Amino acid sequence: MNSCLSTVGKKLWVALTGIGLSGFLLTHMSGNLLILAGPEAYNKYSHALISNPLIYIAEAGLVVIFLVHVYLAIALNWASRAAKAGGTSVSPSGEKEARFGSKYMVLTGLVTFVFLVLHLITFKYGAHYSATYNGLEMRDLHRLVLEKFHEPLYVGWYVAALLILGVHLVHGISALFQTLGIGSVRNCRIKMVGYGFTALVIVGFIVQPLYVFLFMQGGN
Ligand code: HEM
Repeated sequence: MNSCLSTVGKKLWVALTGIGLSGFLLTHMSGNLLILAGPEAYNKYSHALISNPLIYIAEAGLVVIFLVHVYLAIALNWASRAAKAGGTSVSPSGEKEARFGSKYMVLTGLVTFVFLVLHLITFKYGAHYSATYNGLEMRDLHRLVLEKFHEPLYVGWYVAALLILGVHLVHGISALFQTLGIGSVRNCRIKMVGYGFTALVIVGFIVQPLYVFLFMQGGN
């Protein structure tokens, strides 16, 4: 794929897959806010998701989108470094943006990748408790989430990783508008959209471990 796509083509796919991943984050954050509504609402919601056969298609799609995004973003970053070392630049969007991109986007993306791997190990493939509602047995994810969000170190790492994801999102969202030809990353309104969306998603995620840690009782 690397050799078939021009720089503009790669940027376009990074932007389009970025929109897909942002959509996932917004949906995941909103659904998980049910953690604050109690075990029954949260477990029934996650059971409805897990037991829907379409989940396998959605998960496969998410993995493909994620891999394309990471692969092309890293390819662009290496091309940009090579061009800079050779005295030319592949970024048409100005020195400042190029510098920010090459310095922080790969780093914040890598931290998010580590977060994601640990996150999946902890929750998706973690301890399997059960709960029964109206005779229907399902996974008690609420208990697992509460257990993890009562560990101070885990909550600290979670909040730090989410703030780092926020840095990635703020820049990524403004950059995707530029790639799609809607406006410059330095445009005030474009910046506002980047900051607004990021604040919504990151604050929505961060309140969950903090609220559980500070105000909710144990893991069951
Ligand atoms: C407060 C923050 C978060 C909470 C409470 C949370 C909770 C969960 C839980 C309980 C699961 C397991 C669901 C299942 O097994 O069906 C899960 C899966 C997942 N989470 Fe999160 N999550 C949070 C933040 C994030 C963030 C920031 C990302 C991305 C960077 C993320 C990406 C994922 C992915 C990709 C899955 C697997 C989805 C699937 O396979 O269907 N989560 N999350």
